[in-house]
Amino acid sequence: MSAEAVRVELGARSYDVVVGPGLIAEAGARISALLPGRNAAIITDSNVAERHLPALRSSLGAVGIESTEIVVPPGEASKSFERLQAVVEAILESRRERNDVVVALGGGVVGDLAGFAAAIARRGMRFVQVPTTLLAQVESTVGGKPGINARQGKTLVGAFLQPALVLADTLTLDTLPEREFRAGYAEMAKVGLIGDRKFFEWLEEKRGEVFSGGAARIRAIAESVRFKAKTVAADEHETGERALLNLGHTFAHALEAACGFDAKRLVHGEAVAIGMVLAHDFSVAEGLAPMADAVRVRAHLKSAGLPVAIGDIPGAAFSADELLRHIAQDKKVQRGRLTFILTNGIGQAFIAEDVPPEKVKAFLEGQVRR
Ligand SMILES: NC(=O)c1ccc[n+]([C@@H]2O[C@H](COP(=O)([O-])OP(=O)(O)OC[C@H]3O[C@@H](n4cnc5c(N)ncnc54)[C@H](O)[C@@H]3O)[C@@H](O)[C@H]2O)c1
Ligand SMILES: [Zn+2]
Repeated sequence: MSAEAVRVELGARSYDVVVGPGLIAEAGARISALLPGRNAAIITDSNVAERHLPALRSSLGAVGIESTEIVVPPGEASKSFERLQAVVEAILESRRERNDVVVALGGGVVGDLAGFAAAIARRGMRFVQVPTTLLAQVESTVGGKPGINARQGKTLVGAFLQPALVLADTLTLDTLPEREFRAGYAEMAKVGLIGDRKFFEWLEEKRGEVFSGGAARIRAIAESVRFKAKTVAADEHETGERALLNLGHTFAHALEAACGFDAKRLVHGEAVAIGMVLAHDFSVAEGLAPMADAVRVRAHLKSAGLPVAIGDIPGAAFSADELLRHIAQDKKVQRGRLTFILTNGIGQAFIAEDVPPEKVKAFLEGQVRR
């Protein structure tokens, strides 16, 4: 099995996302080839440090890259102003120069925090991502939108910053808890559902292999990254087509908010799985998509061990009103109409800009009682 490089085409800020087994061991050589003579500040969380930091440390050390290590507590709470301050100060104290590299070793939390720190420390340092969750490998390495949470809401503070290089070492996924892997899988299936029916059909066939690792896993990740890269390159600042990547996310964010962002009850990828099923069911109810496709989507996500209905969330007792309130607070409301990503069937998602809230409410009334 060999690594596959996906180029994210963004003019002078283009970069490679390399996907494959054993890339941490090659990180030193790859970073020094791209950015010769730089030292590094590695930012990671304690779960990942325990499993993968020694390998990265020795990989960098082997080519003479000096590294300083900054370990943060795992979890969403680390995407805070306080933690950002601590990380930036640690970078400055380590006397890393403006030319040096910030390396994010971890999931999306570490990537978002470290990327934002890299964007502001010394007015901007180079940034390399070594994503260690499936979600981060397929979702947060393409897009260039690191950031933190504010008291007023999630991901409200951040910057646009493209990494210089992304090394998605697929072997790191072997230590990832199964639940986190499934959550990332939902975002991978999303790619097929948005615009690549063949990919979805391939996942239906190869799901077992993707979960067990090996060539199918590498191909699935590379395919997802390629799709996202293509979409983002066409629309870097998120005005048009890129919105399609939000398939299932309006419902998902409402469910996450209704659960008080309690990861014990619902992690993001699980919410996305339910949200995508709802988007398909709603599209069927609106006469836009064939029922058979919605049934297939639900069956596939369920077979991957993901929740597929509101009632699958532990302690779910939400009202349609409450969910609609969260949906309205989400940024996609314009003049009393809601913007949703709906679909004409698997692989045919589209942006619907004028969905009447009453219709969504009526649909949700039927869903919360299931
Ligand atoms: N910037 C973007 O474009 C973008 C896109 C999608 C998501 N995100 C952000 O990503 C975050 C979610 O990312 P996530 O799901 O990776 O969560 P995460 O970073 O919290 O990782 C999930 C858990 O897995 C642990 N972990 C990570 N890698 C591991 C490994 N290889 N082995 C064992 N344990 C490991 C972590 O310590 C953590 O406990 C959210 O904050 C979200 O906002 C950002
Ligand atoms: Zn998502």
